[in-house]
Amino acid sequence: MSRVRTAAIADDAYEDAPVLLVTGRDGIEHRLPAVEGWRVMEVIREWGLDIKAECGGACACATCHVHVDPQWADRLPPPSEEEIDRLDEAFDVREESRLACQLLVTAEIDGLRLRLAPGTER
Ligand code: FES
Repeated sequence: MSRVRTAAIADDAYEDAPVLLVTGRDGIEHRLPAVEGWRVMEVIREWGLDIKAECGGACACATCHVHVDPQWADRLPPPSEEEIDRLDEAFDVREESRLACQLLVTAEIDGLRLRLAPGTER
């Protein structure tokens, strides 16, 4: 397993951190240590994976669309009406679709597996 490493945050900041398993456009699953309290979109972006996230997390663009592993769907907080409305504008929307900017990193999502959805490239 490989990972993209471009973030300027010291590795020791990630000791015991939750980990996200993110499949990028290269088809490779990247293991991304995450900071609790960050948004999943921010973690993906900071580690250098290709996610547009045009509105910066304001739930206004749907360019942070991800497909969550179905095994995780029921373990995440449900989407808000605003997130559901925004997903209506996304491409290739599925039952497991979420906006990564609406998912907060917590200890409970350690091991969350997801894939970047098409149409969210920078
Ligand atoms: S970054 Fe725009 S909706 Fe998530």
